[in-house]
Amino acid sequence: MDEIYMRRAIELAKKGEGWCHPNPLVGAVIVKNKKIIAEGYHARYGDLHAERNALKNAAEPVDGGTLYCTLEPCCHTGKQPPCTEAIIKAGIKKVYVGSSDPNPLVAGKGIRMLKEAGIEVVEGFLKDECDLLNDIFFHYIRKNEPYVIMKYAMTADGKIATESGRSKWITGEKARNEVQKLRHRCMGIMVGIGTVLADDPMLNCRLEGGCSPVRIIVDSKLRIPKESQIVKTAAEYRTIVAAASENEEKSYFLKNRGIEVWQLSGSDGRVDLSRLMKRLGEEKIDSVLIEGGAILNSSALSTGIVDEVDVFIAPKVFGGRGRSPVEGNGADDPSEAYRFEFIEERSVGEDILIRYRAVGGK
Ligand SMILES: NC(=O)c1ccc[n+]([C@@H]2O[C@H](COP(=O)([O-])OP(=O)(O)OC[C@H]3O[C@@H](n4cnc5c(N)ncnc54)[C@H](OP(=O)(O)O)[C@@H]3O)[C@@H](O)[C@H]2O)c1
Ligand SMILES: [Zn+2]
Repeated sequence: MDEIYMRRAIELAKKGEGWCHPNPLVGAVIVKNKKIIAEGYHARYGDLHAERNALKNAAEPVDGGTLYCTLEPCCHTGKQPPCTEAIIKAGIKKVYVGSSDPNPLVAGKGIRMLKEAGIEVVEGFLKDECDLLNDIFFHYIRKNEPYVIMKYAMTADGKIATESGRSKWITGEKARNEVQKLRHRCMGIMVGIGTVLADDPMLNCRLEGGCSPVRIIVDSKLRIPKESQIVKTAAEYRTIVAAASENEEKSYFLKNRGIEVWQLSGSDGRVDLSRLMKRLGEEKIDSVLIEGGAILNSSALSTGIVDEVDVFIAPKVFGGRGRSPVEGNGADDPSEAYRFEFIEERSVGEDILIRYRAVGGK
């Protein structure tokens, strides 16, 4: 039964997806006499934490009850008072904790406080499943830089566009909907100027009730067309153009449209992606979804900013000399490959999604 309760807490935590940045996703369930009497989750940045929400929502007195919490309860005052205090005060007698707090200054303290108050604590319960909720938070809190997901959709013969550059559509409707969920989940979305010129995308989230990401265009020479969808909709969605050369007239025009122009020139005259990630971290952008194209993907991998690679594979073959997902200077020998670790694989409609963790290489 304990696993069922914790899995329910995990489900609840997911409801906060897209809205809690840069806070973690957390779910909590309180059980008494083998019955769930309260549920809560962290719904939005600045709102009550999951544990306090559960305590508040309780249908009956919680004293003597058991709390299942996907993340170690906090013990410091941030935007909200510490949850450990509320748990102790409410008379909870046992707490199951999933993930521990990744912040080295806090880790273990919340649990210690509960134990000192005489509460029985089970640590690391369904830890792996709970940890999966917060790849983004764990990364951001440690590095102060966004968690970067490189996503692309390719045919079974590894093409992301035909030779003439056309790419609509490679995957089916369900996979495209899954991409919308990713856009909702990530705080930023990034593409190279090549993709803007080829596809004129909006890069927003079209899910009903979804949260659109901050749009980041990597465009050294400010080639972005004044009439592009991105420029035309800049008043609606926060938009950043990362550049590497001054062009006062164009900068002025873009800024007038509400676009932020960041000068981040690298040694090769293009946008310095490492500096861009640092700056995004400073702006509290905890996650970035890279949606191409092949040239940006190559630089992102070689700069080492990629944390996860999500590949959608369609049951189609383009043949010929279509575009590959990653161009640039490829490996000379298979031993020089970028290395990934498997996270997950599943069917999404007629397509397949494979998620990998990037572990370096080359
Ligand atoms: N199937 C899919 O999942 C998918 C997704 C996206 C795109 N696509 C397709 O991919 C094609 C466009 O991709 P692309 O490879 O031509 O262009 P891209 O990767 O979107 O953009 C590359 C451009 O970004 C600029 N840039 C600035 N700083 C950079 C840096 N540090 N590293 C790399 N690039 C930097 C460069 O131009 P400047 O030097 O002028 O700044 C570079 O030419 C289109 O055909 C599109 O339809 C497919
Ligand atoms: Zn808390």
